[in-house]
Amino acid sequence: MELPFAELYKIKMVETIKQSTREQREQWLKEAYYNVFNLRSEYVYIDLLTDSGTGAMSDKQWSQLMVGDESYAGASSYLQMKATIKELFGFNDFLPTHQGRAAENVLFSVLVKEGNIIPGNSQFDTTKGHIEFRHAHAVDCTIDEAFDTTLYHPFKGNIDLNKLKRVFEEHPIEKVPMVIITITNNTSGGQPVSMQNIKQVAELAHAYGTKVVIDSARFAENAYFIKTREPGYAHTSIKEIVKEMYSYADAMTMSSKKDAIVNMGGFIGFADRACYEKASVYNIMFEGFVTYGGMSGRDMNALCQGLYESTEFDYLDTRIRQVQYLADKLVAHGVPILQPTGGHAIFIDAKKFFPQLPKEEFIAQTLVVELYLEAGIRGVEVGTLLADRDPNTRENRYPRLELVRLAIPRRVYTNSHMDYIAAAICNVYDRRNQITRGLRIVKEAPIMRHFTVELARVE
Ligand SMILES: Cc1ncc(COP(=O)(O)O)c(C=O)c1O
Repeated sequence: MELPFAELYKIKMVETIKQSTREQREQWLKEAYYNVFNLRSEYVYIDLLTDSGTGAMSDKQWSQLMVGDESYAGASSYLQMKATIKELFGFNDFLPTHQGRAAENVLFSVLVKEGNIIPGNSQFDTTKGHIEFRHAHAVDCTIDEAFDTTLYHPFKGNIDLNKLKRVFEEHPIEKVPMVIITITNNTSGGQPVSMQNIKQVAELAHAYGTKVVIDSARFAENAYFIKTREPGYAHTSIKEIVKEMYSYADAMTMSSKKDAIVNMGGFIGFADRACYEKASVYNIMFEGFVTYGGMSGRDMNALCQGLYESTEFDYLDTRIRQVQYLADKLVAHGVPILQPTGGHAIFIDAKKFFPQLPKEEFIAQTLVVELYLEAGIRGVEVGTLLADRDPNTRENRYPRLELVRLAIPRRVYTNSHMDYIAAAICNVYDRRNQITRGLRIVKEAPIMRHFTVELARVE
């Protein structure tokens, strides 16, 4: 018999999780105003809200916590992080920050001015938030193929070079301080960006005299897809691929809560010394002194170890195969999911799941609610709630895709959990025609509303 693939780790510590009844979940959800961000985690059986900060650290990462240096200035933990970033990404200068959005805040304080235009591939919500907060505009230049959830394209995160060129030609270049390449492209489905695309975007941007910033939360997963899908990279190591990806960039922002497999942390890497020096001032104001920037020494040590582990092929293969395992079960049952499967999550196409619901009734959020009620599984809406209102007109922005993201935490759940998740989704799919009404907003914040929005059922 052929041996099946099995996880390349074993479990050393466990945490108990609890199931609940449907009646309990009905009550808890009502109290949470149909916003799963408001649920207590103990009310959730399998938590797929995010893969951010929810991964399981390895024994080696835990051991690194013991040797962290908590000195305010010049800590060995800082110097280790500097050396690790130089080795893996090639940047001489870096600033630690407490998480990814803090890195954006510091870097954009230097680069983004009112009225600027920032092209990229579907910038993540915090990225867009930091752009719009500065009264600048994010322009989505993702390739059109990304918006057809059934179409197979190996690099659906790619930037359309013609769309990008148009942005450069339609605006004075001093108004376009950078292009942001998000790898993998979380907002449009955890889809990777090819090496060729990164290179071509950088060539175009540099020819016009603007910078390339890589939003790097899932850089290692992106490198895995380059290795396994892009011609010419099958025999290149993940670490070599990473080094090449960053050779085209002027700076990187990193949420270490994803591919550095730590619970908290972030950083900015800089190729440009002058930009680093300007950003240092903001880092000291917002985050902390340049050698700790909102992080404990021990956390910097664990982060470095996490970066080395996540750039190992075996780790990535185990992770991405688990996501694929779940995807295969859903596809076999006919559940409409975004194809091909991305790195960190399954994205269900909610418009295809519930074609009977009008877009005004928050289709993807309705599916999030149904999945929680069915089985205590918490996913997240990547649709109209997340897209928020247009900052000028205050009208709802209806994105082309209404998705439910089921993010798989790193090294946390087993394939039995994947079987349970698949069965729950298939059950909701089988009774999909019984769901005829969605949700309406009762209360919302002026920016990044999805975190705190309060909803009610449309009667
Ligand atoms: C692509 C991307 N960029 C930036 C961020 C922000 O990072 P953080 O949550 O650490 O602030 C995230 C978080 O999910 C992300 O997915």
